[in-house]
Amino acid sequence: MKLPAGEIHICILDTRKYEHEIIHFEKLLSGDELSKAGRFRIAKDRISYVICRGSLRSILSEYTGVNPSEIVFSYTSFGKPFIKDSEIKFNLSHSCDYAVIAFSGINEIGVDIERLREMPDAMNIASRYFSEKEILEFSGLKNESINTEFFKCWTKKEAFIKAKGEGLSYPLKNFSVSVGDSRRAEIIEITGNPAEAENWSLYEIEINNEYVSALAVKSLKADLVYRNLHWKFFNKTIVI
Ligand SMILES: CC(C)(COP(=O)(O)OP(=O)(O)OC[C@H]1O[C@@H](n2cnc3c(N)ncnc32)[C@H](O)[C@@H]1OP(=O)(O)O)[C@@H](O)C(=O)NCCC(=O)NCCS
Repeated sequence: MKLPAGEIHICILDTRKYEHEIIHFEKLLSGDELSKAGRFRIAKDRISYVICRGSLRSILSEYTGVNPSEIVFSYTSFGKPFIKDSEIKFNLSHSCDYAVIAFSGINEIGVDIERLREMPDAMNIASRYFSEKEILEFSGLKNESINTEFFKCWTKKEAFIKAKGEGLSYPLKNFSVSVGDSRRAEIIEITGNPAEAENWSLYEIEINNEYVSALAVKSLKADLVYRNLHWKFFNKTIVI
């Protein structure tokens, strides 16, 4: 399968569906991934990690032609995995029973997913971590939408810092994303680099009513087009 430049493929995984395949997935993992898996204290987290890494390897194998277990990941100094000397960019995120893995032919990419849950101190957290512009937008929201908008804003911000590759060491207050259901997802401003915001596209990824997810892509100005690609994955067909 080809991953043409300018095309983004997104795989949404309900990891529960693959739990009985765990042994197959484990066989695809490298020694360091297996050691990391062994360090999870909670079994569910270990299983999710193994399924995500196994899926990531399986899909990358389709694009690169390299066997899943022979794919070698390198890591940036902030821990973002990548494949050396390959143009393919990818990023993954997991939350409870779901994971999102995004692939891009060439553009830097970041993805985040969060399970929606009650967050009584959403406004306090927002005022601590979000930008002045975002806090102002939050103060205009109806009470009943604050919880969901908090997670939407959070996933948009995380998708961006994950695309940048710097993780949470990139100050969340230093850039603003769109807030509010009626707004198209976008990076509104980046402190100290006003032109840079133009280089980024943000998208909300629809999962279901329990999860919110967002994708950030550098230098891609296009609408997200949803089409299903069916792949054989062990004895299962997955839809990407
Ligand atoms: C990246 C980060 C924001 C992810 O947070 P999270 O919401 O808990 O986790 P998510 O499920 O959304 O994403 C985790 C995945 O993102 C990827 N990832 C890891 N570090 C990343 C980074 N710096 N940038 C982008 N993606 C990263 C990995 O694939 C990871 O999945 P894995 O568990 O299979 O390895 C957070 O872990 C972070 O800030 N990391 C940087 C830590 C750092 O600076 N380390 C330096 C020493 S290595």
